[in-house]
Amino acid sequence: MCGIIGYIGNRGAVDVVIEGLKSLEYRGYDSAGVAYSKGGHIDVKRCEGRIRNLEMVIDKSECDSRVAIGHTRWATHGRPSVNNAHPHRSGSVVMVHNGIIENYTEIRNIFENDGYEFSSDTDTEALCHLIEKSNRDSDIEGAVLNSIKEIKGSYAIAVMSERSPDRIVCVRKDSPLVLGIGDEEYFVASDVPAFLSYCNKVIFLENDEMAVLSSDGVEIRDLHGARIFRNAETINWTPSMAEKGGFRHFMLKEIYEQPRAISDTLRGRYSNESGDVVLHEFGLEESMVRDINKIFIVACGTSWHAALIGKYFIEDLAGVPVEVDIASEFRYRGALVGNRDLFISITQSGETADTLAAQREAKRLGAHTLSICNVVGSSSTREADAVFYTHSGPEIGVASTKAFTTQIVSLYLLAIAFGKLRGKIDDERSRQLLNDLLELPGRIESVFSSEETIKEIAKAFFKADDFLYLARGILYPVALEGALKLKEISYIHAEGYPAGEMKHGPIALVDETLPAIFIISGDVLYDKMVSNINEVKSRGGKTVVISDGCRDDIKKLSDYCLEIPHTNKYLAAVMSTVPLQLLAYHIGVLLGCDVDQPRNLAKSVTVE
Ligand code: AGP
Repeated sequence: MCGIIGYIGNRGAVDVVIEGLKSLEYRGYDSAGVAYSKGGHIDVKRCEGRIRNLEMVIDKSECDSRVAIGHTRWATHGRPSVNNAHPHRSGSVVMVHNGIIENYTEIRNIFENDGYEFSSDTDTEALCHLIEKSNRDSDIEGAVLNSIKEIKGSYAIAVMSERSPDRIVCVRKDSPLVLGIGDEEYFVASDVPAFLSYCNKVIFLENDEMAVLSSDGVEIRDLHGARIFRNAETINWTPSMAEKGGFRHFMLKEIYEQPRAISDTLRGRYSNESGDVVLHEFGLEESMVRDINKIFIVACGTSWHAALIGKYFIEDLAGVPVEVDIASEFRYRGALVGNRDLFISITQSGETADTLAAQREAKRLGAHTLSICNVVGSSSTREADAVFYTHSGPEIGVASTKAFTTQIVSLYLLAIAFGKLRGKIDDERSRQLLNDLLELPGRIESVFSSEETIKEIAKAFFKADDFLYLARGILYPVALEGALKLKEISYIHAEGYPAGEMKHGPIALVDETLPAIFIISGDVLYDKMVSNINEVKSRGGKTVVISDGCRDDIKKLSDYCLEIPHTNKYLAAVMSTVPLQLLAYHIGVLLGCDVDQPRNLAKSVTVE
């Protein structure tokens, strides 16, 4: 996610803002910028890449400003570039933004028809022009309030105007902003670390609230202008803890971010009215989708597990045959790819060498290429014919968590869109599938209340030498993912296996030291799974069941039975992943492993 910081007080504002942006670097970014008032004018400096590049374009001797805002950008619309970096300017107004403005293209079209020339590809610039236009007839507070009524989506913004250079106006909806209350100095930021070295008294701005920072202090108002009085809280985190939002590790923070990441990935991609999936940025001709002969989904590691799940979605909902390959295998197997085929690469980083090579090979063979990716402007997205971004925000932990679940959600949306385009599913079915998806973030939140039980399971088995993860159907790739998470984080060997296949070999591993993790859904071959649990139990194995219904027949056979919320048979793959992520995390912590940066692993494998 992007990072925002604003300062007003008696220190050098540019220095405070630059240091604050450095404290937000952990959030991941690809460009940065700062705006500061200078003799009634507002100067803006921006750069691509790291903050040190920004410092190289600022002459600090020039800027003794006491008011400034800054931004680190994690691109969601428009590639990383100076023009797309924030702050954005429109006339006398300058602003920074974190979030996604869903209707920016409509707003942009209106302004372009009025003769405006946009200097960036961002959604933010459209909002900046709205505010500037309104600021001609009202104060900056009124201009901000008027403008946010015109936009849909999520936003946290900080705005300055040359008409009132002594203040910073902020407002938020579904994207965080926190205020720092210092000694005659005031801060606004996306996250506490940005100003924790200066002050630890904070007020968290709530949705649909506006804050105005001036040398007189901080005023909070609702969107009708009524004052809101709220006491400041004291933050007792260390800066390192603050970077992780109070979580012990980035991995745990990112597991907990999944409801928000899924909501952000959904945002702007469905119509409540029609129940349709709306893929603006789709980039594939509808006629081509209708004419697809076969789909190849190719990836590595966790992303390959998402690909395996996507096969079930697309074949079931869109009726298109799907082949799934591990990228390093696809590129050498002489796949029979034709020009009516669609090749989908799934890659969090967009830079995985094997996936890039497979994508290039498919393109050479004539396939249309679509990249499902989390990093705007990465190689995979630049080379593909079409891109579907997962808006999970930067994933810092090496072990992929929120990227995986947002990949699954993206494949689910694509399968619905394809199914509608190819006449395989009707409006009613589409609406039901979408409703199930809209309920998913809330259901995942409720899984977190089982974390103590998951910790107990981790304590019971963290000394085991080997784990089996067993499931069937669409949950089999979840078993693979659960095993991979455990291997990566705890260095314990673990194997994901189709439960029906266990008797053909792996059952020889079963004894009283072996924990077998069963992932079960009432909608997916339930009775068969019960007999598989029995096969392990009857040989003395330890049984842990993750199920959306711990019925008596399962409870009798389980050493631990963790019940998770029910959802449809497709999204059960997301729901059942979350406890497995937490189990791997807690076992890794109990073993004292470096769960954010496990040994031998890289976040992006950019070599063959
Ligand atoms: C997952 O936890 C691992 N970090 C790894 O398997 C990863 O999924 C794989 O390297 C693919 O990375 P990508 O999604 O960036 O292409």
